[in-house]
Amino acid sequence: MTGTKTNQSMAGKIVMVTGANSGIGKITALELAKMGATVTMVCRSRDKGEEALREIKESIGGGSLELMVADLSSQSEIRTLAEEFQKKHDRLDVLVNNAGVFVRQPSMTRDGIETTFAVNHLAYFLLTSLLLDLLKRSAPSRIVNVSSRAHTSATMNFDDLQGEREYGGWRAYCQSKLANILFTNELARRLEGSGVTVNCLHPGVIATGLFRVLPKILELPLRIFLSSPETGAETSVYLASSPDVEGVTGKYFIKKRAVASSPESQNAESARRLWEVSERLTGLIPA
Ligand SMILES: NC(=O)c1ccc[n+]([C@@H]2O[C@H](COP(=O)([O-])OP(=O)(O)OC[C@H]3O[C@@H](n4cnc5c(N)ncnc54)[C@H](OP(=O)(O)O)[C@@H]3O)[C@@H](O)[C@H]2O)c1
Repeated sequence: MTGTKTNQSMAGKIVMVTGANSGIGKITALELAKMGATVTMVCRSRDKGEEALREIKESIGGGSLELMVADLSSQSEIRTLAEEFQKKHDRLDVLVNNAGVFVRQPSMTRDGIETTFAVNHLAYFLLTSLLLDLLKRSAPSRIVNVSSRAHTSATMNFDDLQGEREYGGWRAYCQSKLANILFTNELARRLEGSGVTVNCLHPGVIATGLFRVLPKILELPLRIFLSSPETGAETSVYLASSPDVEGVTGKYFIKKRAVASSPESQNAESARRLWEVSERLTGLIPA
């Protein structure tokens, strides 16, 4: 593993990165730890998490990192994660919601929610909501949501949000990435004046494990066009750490530049509606 070069310091900052055992999340954790941050790596597998932690420490010659194990498809595990984190830490400077899945066939979490929607959107929503008071107390603080350019081909199908009538893996993925942007925009609006910023990004088209479920015949040609996880992590690291984006909120970034996201993702009514549905589906307000 080789990290991107940076000269900014994150010393004294406490950072949480989800999905930190592989791909973009692993390099994000590595880079931020290299800049002096104390990094909590959230991983669903203890074995994979420990291996990644060891590799990162070896690669940077130390660093302050810890592992917290949580399956983010489970809302009770997200609640336990948020509680345990707050027992250990009295601040959180940066939350990077990065964990994501691409699921070809319809599947349900143990909470009875379609898996793509649960992991890619509701986990971002619930974890952030549970840590929001801590982030506010730690202001100026930052939330970074890893979305995708795939959002551009999606609309929010509020009549069949979880693909119960008709499921398509790619459609579910694109909709979940659109949800990341709508969530970012609505949260930025709600956090105005709090000192907590929230931005989202497209990392590029990156050689990670994300599309491992694709048939090899599709995956292999795709790999020729892919960038490295190091390139994929650059915008996450930038949004988490750079003074350039201090105070910047509610934006969508590609290659460290704020760009326009799709018209659908800028629909304030959709963002409000998604927020309300998400509150109910996560039990933050009664269903
Ligand atoms: N790769 C791309 O081209 C691309 C493009 C646009 C956006 N993105 C976004 O980038 C983010 C990172 O993906 P990646 O490309 O780095 O893929 P990846 O290598 O597959 O990493 C995904 C991470 O999420 C974790 N994860 C998945 N389900 C989880 C769950 N239920 N609980 C906890 N952790 C879970 C994975 O853990 P396991 O190892 O245990 O599965 C893994 O650590 C995702 O949000 C993805 O949508 C990627």
